[in-house]
Parts: sequence; C-alpha cells; structure tokens
Amino acid sequence: MPAAQIGDRVLLLSKQGRRFFVDLRRGDRFHTHKGIIEHDAMIGAPYGKPVITHLNEVYYLMRPSIHDELMALKRVTQIIYPKEIGQILLQLDMRPGRRVIEAGTGSGALTMALANAVSPDGAVYSYETRPEMLKVARRNVERADLSAGVEFVERDIAQGFLHHDVDALFLDVREPWDYIPQAVEALADGGHLGVLVPTTNQIVILLQELDRGPFIAIQVLETLLRYYKPVPGRLRPEDTMVGHTGYLLFARKVGKRPEPTDDPARKTAPDINSRPLEDLS
Ligand SMILES: C[S@@+](CC[C@H](N)C(=O)[O-])C[C@H]1O[C@@H](n2cnc3c(N)ncnc32)[C@H](O)[C@@H]1O
Repeated sequence: MPAAQIGDRVLLLSKQGRRFFVDLRRGDRFHTHKGIIEHDAMIGAPYGKPVITHLNEVYYLMRPSIHDELMALKRVTQIIYPKEIGQILLQLDMRPGRRVIEAGTGSGALTMALANAVSPDGAVYSYETRPEMLKVARRNVERADLSAGVEFVERDIAQGFLHHDVDALFLDVREPWDYIPQAVEALADGGHLGVLVPTTNQIVILLQELDRGPFIAIQVLETLLRYYKPVPGRLRPEDTMVGHTGYLLFARKVGKRPEPTDDPARKTAPDINSRPLEDLS
C-alpha cells in the first residue's frame, strides 16, 4: 500500500473504532479531544502506521474505505445504508463498465457506492429535482474522490430520463410507481430495476404497477443486520440494533413477446423446451 501524500484524505482510526478524516496539508495540525497530531508526521508515512497525539493517544493512519466514506458523508436527506447498498450492488450487477441511472440523488450515498463499483470506465447518471441536494451530493462525491464517471442531472424524472439503454436503474423516491413507464423507457432489455421504499404499503402499490410488465423475477426483501460485541470471552449481540430502514424490490426488464403467428407449422410443432422437466425424463 502506498504512503500518505499531501492532498490525500486519510483516516485516523483508534483501537476502539473512533474515526477522524484528515485532508493532509503541509504544516497543518489536527486537533482531537485527546491531543494534537502534526500533519507532517503523517505525510509520507505508510498506511497502518501508529500516530501519537501530544497527549500520548494512539491512532492508526488508514486509507478510508468506501464504508468509512459512506458513514461520514454529510446528510441532508435520508440515505441508503451499507446494509442495503451491499444487496443493491450485487442485485444490480454493478461492476466496472456498467451504466446505471439512480433517482433521486439525495445526499449522494448510493451515488458514491455505485461510482465506486462501476469505475473506471462505467457511468452513474444521478437525477434529482432539488439543486440544494445536488450541491451537497456533489461535494460528498468529490470529497471521496469518486466524481469521475458521475453525471448529476437536475430534472424531475416524471419528464423521463435523458439516458437510455442503461444496464440498471435504481429508484429511491417517494412514489416510485409513478415513474415505472419512464424507467422502462430508459432500461435496456435484460436490465435490472431496483427500488427502495420504507413501507410495505408502498411495496404493494409497486407490485401492482409492475404486474403490468415488462418485468420478471420480482424479488422483495429486507436486510437485517446485527452487530456483536467483539469480546472473545463474552460474545453476544450489541444491546441495540437498527430495527428498520427500508424494503428493497428488484426485477429484470424483458423484451416484448413476439406477436402471435399464423404460420401453421409453428402452431403444430411440439415445443420441447416449453414442456415441464418431468416430461423429458
Ligand atoms: C431519500 S432521498 C435519496 C437518498 C439517496 N438515495 C442517498 O442514498 O443519499 C430522495 C430524493 O429524491 C428526490 N426526488 C423526489 N422525487 C423526485 C423526482 N420526481 N425526480 C427527481 N428527484 C426526486 C428528492 O428531492 C430527494 O432528494
């Protein structure tokens, strides 16, 4: 792993997991409630190195992970949390080179995770109606050095998306069922749709809308995450946990079925592939 350089955003991590972000500048000082650290003591130092405050408190110099960045971003809206983001990235098959639309941008938490997954040659098109949200999200994404490949679009998605044939599309807006026709227009056949909503009532409305097609393999799920106290002699869950964040829905968009044919040969030929498996034994 390379050493920390001037201009890098580094993480100071304590043994107990306390986290501080520092933008390294020659001659600056970082103040914690447990003492001061000179930036110069970190510039050029290898990651993993212990750095000690003038009050003898030890922190470790780390390169921030995407998880660290997500938990530290400035929030101006409800954000999507890592426990959902993990599922979203896998279900939408996010990998380098993929093109994905999301709406709304909000604070940009999902934007950051998507950008991280599709870089270096993919694209994230992030739609948002409110300029003040876009401003914060842009800054969050820039701070995490994830701007390359992210295009922010100030637009009400009711007017449709400006990007088409995308591999995946994710909706985190209040009434996602209103925008399914627009999503269908923008998604490539075979593409992945993902939606997050906080209530089961919204899932029901969404299912009714998706029933009109062209979606298959619909999945509805929630993710429950429980942290444990990491004490070898007394391993047990933390006393409190996050009870609820949201429900996720995923589906695959398919192409139109061919029109019924008048070809008599086609009508009479047995379609061996469409028979149930048992018939082939
Ligand atoms: C819950 S926030 C999104 C949070 C974001 N996924 C994150 O992880 O930070 C929902 C956002 O959708 C935006 N929004 C709502 N309706 C919209 C629409 N029709 N077109 C574009 N953006 C919309 C809102 O302004 C709001 O910022």
